[in-house]
Amino acid sequence: MEKREKFSSRLGFILISAGCAVGLGNVWRFPYITGKYGGAAFVLIYLVFLVILGLPIMVMEFSVGRSSQKSAARSFHALEPAGTKWHFLSYIAIAGNYLLMMFYTTVGGWMLSYVVKMIKGEFTGLDPDAVGAVFNNMLTRPGSMAFWMILTVVISFLVCSLGLQKGVERITKFMMGSLFVILIILCIRSVTLPGAADGAAFYLIPDFSKIKEYGWFDVIFAAMGQAFFTLSLGIGAMAIFGSYIAKDHTLTGESIRICLLDTLVALLAGLIIFPACFAFKVNPGEGPGLVFVTLPNIFNQMAGGRIFGTLFFVFMSFAALSTIIAVFENIISFSIDLFSWKRGKAVAVNLVLIIVLSLPCVFGFNIWSSIAPLGAGSTIQDLEDFIVSNNLLPLGSLGYLLFCTSRYGWGWKNFIAEADAGKGAKFPQWSRIYVSFILPAIVLFIFIMGYIQKFVK
Ligand code: TRP
Repeated sequence: MEKREKFSSRLGFILISAGCAVGLGNVWRFPYITGKYGGAAFVLIYLVFLVILGLPIMVMEFSVGRSSQKSAARSFHALEPAGTKWHFLSYIAIAGNYLLMMFYTTVGGWMLSYVVKMIKGEFTGLDPDAVGAVFNNMLTRPGSMAFWMILTVVISFLVCSLGLQKGVERITKFMMGSLFVILIILCIRSVTLPGAADGAAFYLIPDFSKIKEYGWFDVIFAAMGQAFFTLSLGIGAMAIFGSYIAKDHTLTGESIRICLLDTLVALLAGLIIFPACFAFKVNPGEGPGLVFVTLPNIFNQMAGGRIFGTLFFVFMSFAALSTIIAVFENIISFSIDLFSWKRGKAVAVNLVLIIVLSLPCVFGFNIWSSIAPLGAGSTIQDLEDFIVSNNLLPLGSLGYLLFCTSRYGWGWKNFIAEADAGKGAKFPQWSRIYVSFILPAIVLFIFIMGYIQKFVK
């Protein structure tokens, strides 16, 4: 078997973990969900979930990864007490990573294609209906959508094929660096637009009466789902990066840094989108089309809009690609851990596999659009997203929680010893009751209620 590579630097580890976390969840999903649920009040609830739920689970994932020195495909086998069945969790992890990519690569392709559309000036002079039509037209064309999806997959696997340090670490560092620069430029542009203040208020000043409109439960459920999704928790996607680092720093400290970076990008993405929406009188509650349908309109009305628009979609593409590369790194390491393949073979096989697996999502918008798995108007993408976000992520997270706290699993002592190894913030001992009993109960309760809400209504 090939020797297991490590990251070359601590910064590499932090930026790649942040690159995995910072993705469409931050720049696409977070703004439209926030828009839908009324702005600042939702943001507050989401922030609370990041801290009470996301952070501890991230520390657990990293601990399992670092201690086992394996991907999620093998980490439970390595750490579980003899004779137990915790390694069933590895199936959730493997399925989760593949299923996530099955719809994520398609949206990544949309982003790349919008960069090109922006550069070519395809939106210039179009009225709002025509801009919306560009998006809907794209959805009707399976060939071109497949092309952009495949391009996304090929670029990302190419990076992975160069190796952990030379490929994944080097390129992700570059993309994350540029992403922060672009983010700041766009933020400054957006908040200095005339009329931006209303948007900032919608986004920053909570109005809890809006939550009543949707019902507290729906809002809380959405906020929890978003917290899992944005931090990449539950399916071992983060755990793998724990397996590539040494024991110099505590995992609580590293997790706090990564959560902060992720939150910063999400909040700033909102600070680009909402002031611009209000400045140009566009409805922020538009839904998933928000960045594709609304934003080109905004750039159309803005001086220098083509340049800012291009920058914006480059920013989106970098966020998406760094996540896809990180998840592919997981998928590749599953093959390496399970079958002792060389990296090159793992890349080649998975490249083909992922392309084939991603096609149903593409076709779900056109030639297979009659399939509506979750009720009228829903798509294959909705189904895949639902399986991952509402099922595998909470269940997998529950698995990590119990594994790390139960004496029938890896157990609290082992977990704490691993999490606290090195310099930095320690995992608080007083939280033991909370993470062992209360947190799993919260996750389970919200998971079950989510089903009741979705199907019993
Ligand atoms: N966090 C990523 C985003 O915000 C998505 C993601 C990557 C993810 N890996 C994951 C979500 C693992 C859940 C689990 O776009």
